[in-house]
Amino acid sequence: MQVAVGRACGKAILCGEHAVVYGRPAVGVPLTNIYAEAQVREGTGGVAIVAEDLDHAWMLEELRPQHPLAHIVRATLRALNEETAPNFLLTLRATIPIARGLGSGTAVSTAIVRALAQFYGATLSPAKVSALVFETESLYHGTPSGVDNTLIAYEQPVYFVKGQPPQRLKVARAFALIVGDTGVASETKVAVAAVRATWEREPSRVEQIFDAIGALVHDARDAVEFGHVEQLGVLMDRNQDQLRALDVSSPVLERLIEAAKRAGADGAKLSGAGRGGSMIALVRDETREVVRDALTEAGARTVMISEVARQN
Ligand code: MEV
Repeated sequence: MQVAVGRACGKAILCGEHAVVYGRPAVGVPLTNIYAEAQVREGTGGVAIVAEDLDHAWMLEELRPQHPLAHIVRATLRALNEETAPNFLLTLRATIPIARGLGSGTAVSTAIVRALAQFYGATLSPAKVSALVFETESLYHGTPSGVDNTLIAYEQPVYFVKGQPPQRLKVARAFALIVGDTGVASETKVAVAAVRATWEREPSRVEQIFDAIGALVHDARDAVEFGHVEQLGVLMDRNQDQLRALDVSSPVLERLIEAAKRAGADGAKLSGAGRGGSMIALVRDETREVVRDALTEAGARTVMISEVARQN
């Protein structure tokens, strides 16, 4: 039996999360060693969805229309003109930990779009895949900037501004990130709503923070494009100061960030929505082992090294 398989990677934001929701830029990279996978094969009537990691199965029509899985499946079928009497089994699995700022939900949606396109013999551009996933994200997160679906659908380092076509980042010098999982689940929409509440309460202070983040993202783009890796580390540290001022850090994140810095990381910050989730540390060949061990000792649930390759 023919099986269509779609895969999608995770993501890390190097600089700019939260401020990107308010029109400032962000830079991020795909995390290609973790992924979500969707498999589609012919069914026995209707659409069945099996989430292997959650040990859960549904029929599409049982799910409320706003459910992210139902939404992405229907939106994709509509885009493919295959809405009439769909008949398939969709199986999902992922190695991206859920709700850790690494793009698990976005990757699952992206993998579904890719698998369905393949199942029906269609080709969708990264821009189309990204747009479909963004529709579902908007329903689920309220006010996403679009950075997550862009990084995952394009699978490239990107300089991103909400509402604009993404700009591919050149990477003049390869670098490595260590991703430390706090083990604390944090939902993006909750963190984004908390920042919004602060912004409504103290607009001028928060706008200043967003401006400062926007400025350092510009510098971070240059640092990546000109191969100034040490400078990127400095900017990540400064970004973390701003994220702390936005109150999206947490004691566990701070503990891991401090451990990484003390072990010699060039820079360390939370990545994604914060308030738990994951942190990233920028390391060199000579510091990566020490930083990895320091993060494990400081209580990281899992620690993973991700390489960002040189690209022109
Ligand atoms: C989440 O990865 C990044 C946030 O800025 C939310 C968004 O941009 O939609 C926190």
